[in-house]
Amino acid sequence: MPHILIAGANGQLGQALAARFASSAQLTCWTRPRYDIADPSIADAVAAVSPDILVNAAAWTDVDGAEDAPDFAFAVNALGPKYLAEGCARCDAALVQISTNEVFAGTAGRFYHEYEQTSPGSVYARSKAAGENAAASVLDRLYIVRVAWLYGAGGNNFPTKISAAADRHGALRVVRDEFGNPTCASDVAAAIAQLIETQRFGVYHFVNDGFASRYDWAVELMRLTERESLPVSPINARDWPRKSVPPPHAVLVNQAGSALGITLPDWRDALRKYVRTWLNL
Ligand SMILES: NC(=O)c1ccc[n+]([C@@H]2O[C@H](COP(=O)([O-])OP(=O)(O)OC[C@H]3O[C@@H](n4cnc5c(N)ncnc54)[C@H](OP(=O)(O)O)[C@@H]3O)[C@@H](O)[C@H]2O)c1
Repeated sequence: MPHILIAGANGQLGQALAARFASSAQLTCWTRPRYDIADPSIADAVAAVSPDILVNAAAWTDVDGAEDAPDFAFAVNALGPKYLAEGCARCDAALVQISTNEVFAGTAGRFYHEYEQTSPGSVYARSKAAGENAAASVLDRLYIVRVAWLYGAGGNNFPTKISAAADRHGALRVVRDEFGNPTCASDVAAAIAQLIETQRFGVYHFVNDGFASRYDWAVELMRLTERESLPVSPINARDWPRKSVPPPHAVLVNQAGSALGITLPDWRDALRKYVRTWLNL
């Protein structure tokens, strides 16, 4: 059994990883505040644990909040992966660094493969791109796994927010001109479990198959939760002002994983399963 260390084990992906590896690995789960990845001494802690594989699911994920606190965002999202990679280098562990579709500019109509140049816009996106580069500057045994529009158990994610807004207001206004890949954390965890068997280090895009606008995603969620009659009005992103400007079309293509036989289900099937399991429908 491999020894797997999960940093950020209380997050959406961290919880999905812990569930996925519960019976197939020796598991060490790190949570804050005891294990803060922005503390340089975390490298010593990694070397002391000496796992076979470290999966870094910890991150500052408050995309709008990062605009006002760039130093904190970079400390966690850029320096954190560097310290973890340094620890891995000292004990010959592999690192799975989780990153984001937002490292791409998201030009309208574009679909982004793993080999394309990053062009991050927001503070959060720049901190995550810096985290990819910082880990790569230290470690060869590195998988960079970019995900998008993630949702999972216990998360304050788009499906739970939209569901709550539907209950509260009886109607929804949802952005129609921002596109991405809605992606279930448990499918990413399963794909990572397959990936680490391959020992093929590099960049991967693990997203549920297909893509959607926020509006499409909300309409599908209403259908699956038997609220088809609830009015959902499409609006433009400019009518939903945010501190950060999200990439309009940062849609990822899973080319590298598919070539190894690692594919994720269609986003609608994944959402149906999530709704049944977690929302008890
Ligand atoms: N959510 C998305 O839509 C999305 C999209 C694309 C990429 N991603 C990426 O996917 C990964 C997982 O995201 P997620 O949605 O699972 O995030 P999440 O639910 O927000 O979980 C992040 C976890 O990181 C922990 N954390 C924050 N700062 C830390 C620090 N300094 N030291 C140690 N732990 C710290 C948090 O701890 P607390 O529990 O104490 O807050 C939380 O448990 C991240 O790399 C994220 O950038 C997410």
